[in-house]
Amino acid sequence: MTDADAAMQARIAMRSASRLKLGLFGANCSSGRAVTTVPERWSGSWADNVRLARMADEAGLEFMLPVGRWKGYGGETDYQGATFETVNWASGLLANTKRLTVFGTVHAPLLHPIIAAKEFVTADHIGEGRFGLNVVCGWNEGEFEMFGVQQRDHETRYEYAQEWLDAIKMMWTGGDDFDFDGRFIKLKKVRAKPKPYGGTRPIIMNAGASPTGRAFAVRNCDALFVATKRATIEECRGIVQKARDLGRENGRDIGVYTIGVVVCRPTAKEAHDYYRHCMLDNADWPAVDNIMALQRVKREEYSADEYDKLRNDFANGLGGLPIVGSPDDVARDLATLCEAGFTGIALSLVNYLDELPYFCDEVLPRLERAGVRAKV
Ligand SMILES: Cc1cc2nc3c(=O)[nH]c(=O)nc-3n(C[C@H](O)[C@H](O)[C@H](O)COP(=O)(O)O)c2cc1C
Repeated sequence: MTDADAAMQARIAMRSASRLKLGLFGANCSSGRAVTTVPERWSGSWADNVRLARMADEAGLEFMLPVGRWKGYGGETDYQGATFETVNWASGLLANTKRLTVFGTVHAPLLHPIIAAKEFVTADHIGEGRFGLNVVCGWNEGEFEMFGVQQRDHETRYEYAQEWLDAIKMMWTGGDDFDFDGRFIKLKKVRAKPKPYGGTRPIIMNAGASPTGRAFAVRNCDALFVATKRATIEECRGIVQKARDLGRENGRDIGVYTIGVVVCRPTAKEAHDYYRHCMLDNADWPAVDNIMALQRVKREEYSADEYDKLRNDFANGLGGLPIVGSPDDVARDLATLCEAGFTGIALSLVNYLDELPYFCDEVLPRLERAGVRAKV
């Protein structure tokens, strides 16, 4: 293996020997991923983000993943109304940490590829090779309208993203003065220096859910994120297997990640009580309904029961797997996901800073004893 191959492998493993990688999802947004009105909900302030990243870094968590969001969802809290632009956010956090991989989540149609490539390289040098890219094509028409940009149809969105990423990869590796002559993107005599840190490139992830989105991910990315909602372990196994098989057909050994919402307390009762308090009794229901309307979830297409369940799932981290219970319960659930074949999971907490220390003190040692996590 060449030095560059080894460096790329280290990036993909996020420099960790743990079988299940752990990350934090959504801390760049006000309220994070919990659509709740409780006063302790996540501030999303810069000072809190820096404290959180340092804490995660010291505890040996592998990554932080932001949400690329330009417009809040309204409701009582204007859910995710205040968000940090994610590449700047990543650069700042990379400068404040030593081991953590920090992703930027970037809407391909909204950022010119030359600016994008340069921003990513800048973040990557600041983090000495720890920047990661989450490519998204966008789905929220209100956001595109705000930019004055026409959203492409679903298939063409991914065709554009393919060109965008091809152009960026050429800028990361190509020589001086190359032309790029795509269907959508035409660039002349491109110069892009420096190259990413250490002669490799940032790891790339995508969270496409449609067949076209999945095909894009397995063709181009090191990691695919899948939202599993309330899937059983057998269903999870199937999801992971399918994604890995698709990756192999494309000559890639793709990492498969999911997302979860953790409430961990000394007893299962305390955890479930708090979950109910935040996500049901004090959910920001008008914001939840706005999200569902934007995602075109129609009440008439579901039974009343199914619709209520779905609505609760949206309040709970927009559909992340709920991992609620005592430290034993939470460690067991995470170990089960590892057994199902997931490479990692991006977690959210109602108040990340208040709740992460207990998770690190109680859950991480259990995962180490179970052989799921390496000792830091
Ligand atoms: C873990 C995860 C993170 C995502 N992050 C964002 C995001 O920050 N911004 C965004 O516009 N879409 C985001 N998405 C949406 C996906 O990029 C994708 O559009 C969605 O899963 C629908 O798939 P499709 O595009 O194949 O239809 C995310 C999805 C998941 C599961």
